Amino acid sequence: MKNIAIFASGSGSNFQAIVEAVRAEELAAKICLLVCDNPKAYVLERARKARIPTFVFQPREYASKEEFEQQIVTQLKERNAEFIALAGYMRLVGPTLLREYEGRIVNIHPSLLPEFPGKDAIGQALAANAKWSGVTIHFVDQGMDTGPIIVQERIRIADDETRESLQRKIQDTEHKLYPAILQMLLTRGEGK
Ligand code: GAR
Repeated sequence: MKNIAIFASGSGSNFQAIVEAVRAEELAAKICLLVCDNPKAYVLERARKARIPTFVFQPREYASKEEFEQQIVTQLKERNAEFIALAGYMRLVGPTLLREYEGRIVNIHPSLLPEFPGKDAIGQALAANAKWSGVTIHFVDQGMDTGPIIVQERIRIADDETRESLQRKIQDTEHKLYPAILQMLLTRGEGK
């Protein structure tokens, strides 16, 4: 069984979906660590309830990204993390982490990349009057949401769509897709 670390900055509904998939034995993995860059994030409460260890840090307390990523790498190694899933981690992964986990970091993003990368992809899609949006899961490289795409699922944007309704549709899709894709990646040997 692979040890995976999850990185999150906010509410953690995707974290929760992964926790539940592990619990239901739909995902054969152990969540060995939650890495969180926001001490106020609700995901920390979820981790506490699920008894998953956390590493919480405040980027501004470090002199550089290299320094806090070095600290993250130390924590990941202590827990023998073999694979990383970014789940609403609102920060670019830097070379220090990428070097250690090359090809073993994936991200979920609420749009059909390369459309609407970066922050507030849902707001961007609505502002552009797009007819379609969706969910992308991709490997992480040094760019902003640019790494090789693993899977995409399209979601229709209705004429009367609101931010809330679109967010709900996207998150429902994310919560099913992410655990399933993680299971696929881990069982085909990614993360070795
Ligand atoms: C998710 O919708 C995820 O796709 C998005 O943040 C949300 C986190 O929700 N990620 C990005 O926008 C990354 N660029 P959650 O905290 O409830 O899982």
